[in-house]
Amino acid sequence: MCGIIGYVGRQRALPIILDGLKNMEYRGYDSSGVAIKETSGKIKAIKAVGPLLNLEEKISDNNFEGSTGIGHVRWATHGGVTEKNSHPHMDCKRKIWVVHNGIIENYQELKAQLLKKGHKFQSETDTEVLAHLIEEKLKTNNYQEAVRLALKEVRGTYGVAVLNQDEPEKIIAARNFSPLLLGVGEGECFVASDASAILKHTTKVVYLDDGELAVLTPKGHAVYDLGRNLRDKKTHHLEWSLEKTQKNGFPHFMLKEIFEQPEAIANSIRGRLLPEEGLVKLGASEDLKKVKRILIAACGTAYLSGKVGEYMLEEYAGIPVEVDLASEFRYRKPVFQKGDAFLVISQSGETADTLAALREAKEKNVLTLGVVNVIGSTLAREAGLGVYQHIGPEIGVASTKAFTSQLTILALLTILFGRSRDMSVITGQRIVKEIKKIPHLIQTVLKQDAAIKKLAKKYNHFNNFLYLGRKYNLPIAYEGALKLKEISYVHAEGYGAGEMKHGPIAMIDENLPSIFIVPQDSVYEKTISNIEEVRARKGPIIAIATEGDKKITRLADDVIYIPKTLEMLTPILSVVPLQLFAYHFGVARGYNVDRPRNLAKSVTVE
Ligand code: G6P
Repeated sequence: MCGIIGYVGRQRALPIILDGLKNMEYRGYDSSGVAIKETSGKIKAIKAVGPLLNLEEKISDNNFEGSTGIGHVRWATHGGVTEKNSHPHMDCKRKIWVVHNGIIENYQELKAQLLKKGHKFQSETDTEVLAHLIEEKLKTNNYQEAVRLALKEVRGTYGVAVLNQDEPEKIIAARNFSPLLLGVGEGECFVASDASAILKHTTKVVYLDDGELAVLTPKGHAVYDLGRNLRDKKTHHLEWSLEKTQKNGFPHFMLKEIFEQPEAIANSIRGRLLPEEGLVKLGASEDLKKVKRILIAACGTAYLSGKVGEYMLEEYAGIPVEVDLASEFRYRKPVFQKGDAFLVISQSGETADTLAALREAKEKNVLTLGVVNVIGSTLAREAGLGVYQHIGPEIGVASTKAFTSQLTILALLTILFGRSRDMSVITGQRIVKEIKKIPHLIQTVLKQDAAIKKLAKKYNHFNNFLYLGRKYNLPIAYEGALKLKEISYVHAEGYGAGEMKHGPIAMIDENLPSIFIVPQDSVYEKTISNIEEVRARKGPIIAIATEGDKKITRLADDVIYIPKTLEMLTPILSVVPLQLFAYHFGVARGYNVDRPRNLAKSVTVE
């Protein structure tokens, strides 16, 4: 959802900025641009529509020698995908240059005022008003004060970095609801939307909070609030290595991340299982014992992990659960009760709707919990209690390893809540024992990659798919369909296998394949009946079934097997073939599965 970067130091800024943008390209790839303060004293900028590669091709390397600069990758919100609308944006005199992630909600109002004052606009974006507003404030104020005053007039969200031709070796950055961190180097300073952009140069970071403004020079940084007070900020050390942000021989991040799932889950559970006691260790507080209901809010794939969590927590912990799309939660006037806990799930920890839902709950004094991957992200910092996923960076836009890790952590939470209620030691021990096996069991599913690739080719000419499942695997039917839609642009619908006869069955014929998730669980026989219904209408059938299931071979055209595990944990295995199927399907259609059109990894607008 747009990525920004800034560099000020002694090295050439251009390669550092381009490299940082490359690592953030998953945040937006509609267009990109850089602005560098050149040794001649002027700021020079270059922009290109399309992927970053287009910008790199356009740049003649020797043209940019300066050591202060800013860059941007865009996921368009206001204004079409054109070069004019690409960042950085500038003021009338081409002195103030701005890169921005977020949305300035009152930009039309501000633009009208600025137009009256004679400002000339080049783009249709909301961002450009900020450059002109700073220009206006500079008439009677110094640079830092001008940026501060401009930001005080802005309503909306921003992670912003500003360059001023008249103030060499200085970048001013600020944040409001859009992620932003500073990188601390020796004689150099960085600012970026995402740590992966600067990891190559430093692991020392300072996370900016909402309403903070930072001044960066080669000598260091200073952070203020918008009331001009100096803030005392802590420097954090990043855990992630550069290697983790690269493809390591895989053709795509998505495939790498699918294959990383055994390791990712092993990391999510490391040190957290107590097999003897049938317990888990999550550093949880006593308050959890008093929880009477859990409300979950999340977006996209994380939301679907919450839906699986609902089944786990209700069945094994006996605790009522409600799951909401975070984008709906705030607007439906949720009724909180005494004893509620509010759980947000988010890989990035920056999804705007999820963050807004969390803040809503906090305002109502509800106990809040977060399952988050990115350390130091906004959700991680704002949730009352948190469980980190520890899976390393997820770069592929379509979430894979984050999902299976979220399911695993929800299983841990089920044990935690369950054991502090009626769950017996034996049940706790049984679940812990099975969770321990999951990384190995995923390995066995991954071994079928070649067979799944063949299937993806066999079914590649179909343009519609139904994904059907029940109970724990109903959210997996949704997730399988979501994966296919995201990266192959093929219509796929997830549906309850039992509910199918109330609608989608009308569409079944030889041109509509159904993918059934049908492990040998408590609803196996019911799902088998649904498969018969599709078969009777000549619909092609792919089944995700339990190893050793003979019956299914007679009913389905193609079968992918997953190993046997506890029913509540089957989703962690059954989703893996669906991830691989979607991946190979998209690749076979010739798409860049890491950069699906119109999507962004981290959705920081509501
Ligand atoms: C975007 C991504 C999805 C992700 C969702 C929620 O839509 O493309 O893969 O599931 O955001 O992201 P979060 O970071 O909150 O888990």
